[in-house]
Amino acid sequence: PVIRVAAICGSLRKASYNGGLLRAAAEVCEESIPGLRVEHVDISGLPLLNTDLETDGGFPPAVEAFRDKIRQADCFLFGSPEYNYSIATPLKNALDWASRGKNCWADKPAAIVSSGGGFGGGRSQYHLRQVGVFLDLHFINKPELFIKAFEQPPKFDSNGNLIDVEIRERIKQVLLSLQAFTLRLQKKD
Ligand code: FNR
Repeated sequence: PVIRVAAICGSLRKASYNGGLLRAAAEVCEESIPGLRVEHVDISGLPLLNTDLETDGGFPPAVEAFRDKIRQADCFLFGSPEYNYSIATPLKNALDWASRGKNCWADKPAAIVSSGGGFGGGRSQYHLRQVGVFLDLHFINKPELFIKAFEQPPKFDSNGNLIDVEIRERIKQVLLSLQAFTLRLQKKD
C-alpha cells in the first residue's frame, strides 16, 4: 500500500518558502516515488490552544478534523520555519492540539525540511526534534535539509515555489529515507 505522508507547514503565509519545499516534495513523489503520497494538512484554521475549548465530548470541530488527519497519516513531513531561534508558533500550536488526550503523533516516523536565514531554519529543526521526544515521534536523522532562503541565486520564485533543481534532488533523498524508515517500522508491528 501507498505510504501516506502528511505534510505540515509551520508558516501560514501564501508565498512561504517552507510551503514551497513541501509542494516540491509532493511533486517529487508524484513524478518518481510511487510508494509515497504527500497530502498537505492545513493548520491555519486551528484555534490557539486553550484547554477551556476542550469538552467531555472532545475538541472544537477544526481540531477534531485535524487530529483525524494526523491519525490517518503513516508518517509526517514538516516544513519548519525558524522564528526567534525556535519552532514557528502555528506549528507548535498544531503539535500541541494533536498531543492532547490520546497523543495522535505517537510511534510515527517523521522528517523535517526547513528554509530560513543564516542557518536555514536549523535551530527550529532541533527544537522540533526535542518536542518529538515527548510526542514519541521518530525522526529520520539523515539526510538533513537546511535551505538558506536569502542567498543568491534565488532558490524560490515570488510565489514561494522552489526553482532550484539541486535542492529538489535533495528533497527526493529525504523522502526516500523517510520511506525506507517507515517501511522498517511498519515491519515491526
Ligand atoms: C523570522 N525569521 C528568522 N529566520 C531565522 O533564520 N532565524 C530566526 O530566528 C528568525 N526569526 C524570525 C522571527 C519571526 C517572528 C519571523 C516572522 C521571521 C525569518 C524567517 O526564517 C523567514 O521569514 C522565512 O522565510 C519564514 O519562512 P516562510 O514563511 O518563508 O516559510
